[in-house]
Amino acid sequence: MMGTDRMAELLIGQTLGFDGNPMTEGIGVARHSARGGVLVEAGRIAAVGEADALVRAYPAARVTDYGARLISAGFIDAHAHYPQTAIIASWGKRLIDWLNAYTFPEEMRLADPAYAAEIAARYFDLVLANGTTTVCSFCTIHPESVEAFFAEARRRGLRAYAGKTCMDRDTAPAGLRDSAQGAYDDSRRLLQKWHGLDRLSYVITPRFSPTSTPGQLAALGALWAENPTCLMQTHLSEQTDEIAWVKSLYPEARDYLDTYEAHGLLGAGGLYGHAIHLEPREIDRLREVGASLIHCPTSNCFIGSGLFDMDGLSRGGQRIGLATDTGGGSSFSMLRTMAAAYEVAQLRHRALHPAELWWLATQGSARALRAEDRIGNLAPGMEADLVVIDLASTPAIAQAAARADDLWQALFPTIMMGDDRAVAAVWAGGRPIRPGPARG
Ligand code: GUN
Ligand code: ZN
Repeated sequence: MMGTDRMAELLIGQTLGFDGNPMTEGIGVARHSARGGVLVEAGRIAAVGEADALVRAYPAARVTDYGARLISAGFIDAHAHYPQTAIIASWGKRLIDWLNAYTFPEEMRLADPAYAAEIAARYFDLVLANGTTTVCSFCTIHPESVEAFFAEARRRGLRAYAGKTCMDRDTAPAGLRDSAQGAYDDSRRLLQKWHGLDRLSYVITPRFSPTSTPGQLAALGALWAENPTCLMQTHLSEQTDEIAWVKSLYPEARDYLDTYEAHGLLGAGGLYGHAIHLEPREIDRLREVGASLIHCPTSNCFIGSGLFDMDGLSRGGQRIGLATDTGGGSSFSMLRTMAAAYEVAQLRHRALHPAELWWLATQGSARALRAEDRIGNLAPGMEADLVVIDLASTPAIAQAAARADDLWQALFPTIMMGDDRAVAAVWAGGRPIRPGPARG
């Protein structure tokens, strides 16, 4: 202890963690301290408690005092497309036209390794500035885009998830297509190179059923069976036009989910983005296998997809993560994403509590990625990926928060109106990656 204690960092401020899931167990599982501390050692959280007690117990630790700012686990974005960084906020299209008009032309550009590296660096700058310490991203069909993502995440010491987006059907443009065998081979090679290296995880990534042949889905299903420690990510039932398209391309399928299920692409460790317009059979199967549904509220509003049933699906026992879906989503910020989740739930007559929103953006997404024992919470043994939030980051937020009687009232204006100005500091792997206040 003595030797390592000298290296310890003690962060002091308000602290917020969770002892359970507030969506199902009530908000009493939230653990807040008005003057708490987080002891960080060797990249991990070594202790969480009251500041005074930790200062006494670890006198050699280097103290960073964040005052009234809130220390939390860093945000986790469970579904994003880093290659779409530059086309975020493109006007006027719904899903299929949006893909063809904006997304596919931009994704073609990531064949160039220099451009892929530039976009990956810009993307991580943006998400880290917004307090997001882990993302799970689609890449493009180009292996170079996967190399660029993982190289950048590794350089920054992040836990990160991604995979080569596979498309071999003529519904995708020429120039953005692989083949069933090529997708299998490339994915396998990338997986062998990156999966488990430092804090990186490879994710098997068929884009969605409309852009894959049954042969490609089956090849990727086989790859997943051969590599069960990998996650698998795709899209499911985002728009009604898309569902009709899937029915026409897969006439034998019982429903959209069945196009994945029939090819070995349904299971625990499967991440299904959007999942808005689900059939009862799909809901039952997703729950039975322990799959994860990823809610992308800014995207679902921006592309006009629909209102995810957070209340019904969470009460029904589904595993749910929260995500930006950049650049179908209109923000890199998980604060903005929590605000959109709140608004979408309000339109379905359910007011999500700030504790539920914060949990979804941290432990909920970690649980969706099956990494809840490593990231997404303030608890001993967890990796020290942290965000420090200024609860008075703008005049509008400050004046609303000034009236608060408790943490939730103080936090909610930041959830609804906060942006990167609210992010006072970010720590990843036990290291500060944005300048914090002067050390005390
Ligand atoms: N469905 C298939 N590809 C995509 C994509 O890139 N973004 C969104 N929002 N939906 C998709
Ligand atoms: Zn997506």
